[in-house]
Amino acid sequence: MSDSGWYMRFSIRVNGTVHRVEAEPDTPLLWILRDVLGLTGTKYGCGTGDCGACTVLVGSRPRRSCQLRIARLGHASIVTIEGISGAVADGVLKAWREADLSECGYCQSGQIITAIALLTTNVQPSDREIDQAFDGSICRCTAYLGIRRAVHHAANIIKR
Ligand code: FES
Ligand code: FES
Repeated sequence: MSDSGWYMRFSIRVNGTVHRVEAEPDTPLLWILRDVLGLTGTKYGCGTGDCGACTVLVGSRPRRSCQLRIARLGHASIVTIEGISGAVADGVLKAWREADLSECGYCQSGQIITAIALLTTNVQPSDREIDQAFDGSICRCTAYLGIRRAVHHAANIIKR
């Protein structure tokens, strides 16, 4: 975090718990998650909204936490990789384990959050819809085909 000295108090709801934090108003949510709350499963990749490593759920939507200023979050409910739960999340995690697709793993929390957001609103996405949902979610190990397969597999698990 920068240190201009203009700190304010904010309440943010993360993984079902309200946290009171002091921060500069333009502090990115990503820094709050990692440096203040210790939720390091959400990764820093680019800091410019271009890689997806920092993706979290805000409500039910996937959002780049490096681009969200704490002062603009209001009462939004934020879910990080540490807080995912429910049938869709369980299905995605099972599919990811069975697909065994992670290489370095760095992008995976963002990819998993993106998959949960997609499958929550679209139970049987096509290849095209998967590619659209994951557009801009960069995997430097190029596991893109494996990710697409894992999303299809997760959809089948969730349907059962
Ligand atoms: S770190 Fe946020 S999109 Fe890359
Ligand atoms: S698994 Fe290494 S960046 Fe995606």
